[in-house]
Amino acid sequence: MPAYDTTHWVIDDLDFSRISLDAVRPDETHFYLACSASFIESGSDLYTSNLIDFFEGDDEVITWLREHWEPEELQHGKALRAYVAHVWPEFDWEPAYRSFLEEYTTYCKVELLAPSRGLEMSARCVVETGTATYYRALARSTSEPVFIDLATRIANDEISHYKHFYRFFRRYREEEGLGRLRVLGTLARRTWELKSEDADCAIRHIAKTRAPERAEDARYLREMGSRMSRTVSRNLSPGATLKMLMRPLELPEPLRVALQFPIEQFMTRVFLR
Ligand SMILES: [Fe+2]
Ligand SMILES: [Fe+2]
Repeated sequence: MPAYDTTHWVIDDLDFSRISLDAVRPDETHFYLACSASFIESGSDLYTSNLIDFFEGDDEVITWLREHWEPEELQHGKALRAYVAHVWPEFDWEPAYRSFLEEYTTYCKVELLAPSRGLEMSARCVVETGTATYYRALARSTSEPVFIDLATRIANDEISHYKHFYRFFRRYREEEGLGRLRVLGTLARRTWELKSEDADCAIRHIAKTRAPERAEDARYLREMGSRMSRTVSRNLSPGATLKMLMRPLELPEPLRVALQFPIEQFMTRVFLR
């Protein structure tokens, strides 16, 4: 079993006293971005139990999920929540999160997992690619140094998660004799689902607490959602994302080059939706 890094960062490593509050507080899009990320990360334990059930008997995977992956994802949620509490102390996080969770729980069903363990591992690579890409873009979207520090730490964790899932994927691909076409199908489907209901669900529940008078205003919610998407899509670095996404296919070089352009087009559409 590989030796895992035991010196992971802690929330106290973040220096909240360095935040320039006047610059960041008025930015409502930034508030929604930080807050919705804190909700989704804090709900990570819903997925862990699904995954642990799915990989029953594989002690290496289960131990890593329990002892590293889940605590790190939950720490992302806690750190983002602490950031929100520091910058926007008037926002009552807990009840808003509870209301979000009630709806969010209904999305996390075991049936949503891929048809085999190897394919699920390739799907997890997509999810971690998506989150790494997202936090890298968030780090680039602001000049606020503490948020840059936080988003960068999270992005690095997501990349490390990707590497673990990728290693597990390779083991299962051998065991299951997975062909490229099946892997491609899973990668494409999960990529398409990346910007699924999660963010929209978070926005709705944040608005209920943040702006109750506009919580039912579909235009306001849509506008906020598209401002958030634009912030992310303006700050993407598609090269690194593509490399991570395509890696599980292990394509020979000429095929990889030929597919690069159509896949790039596909990716841009995913993040601009
Ligand atoms: Fe995370
Ligand atoms: Fe992750």
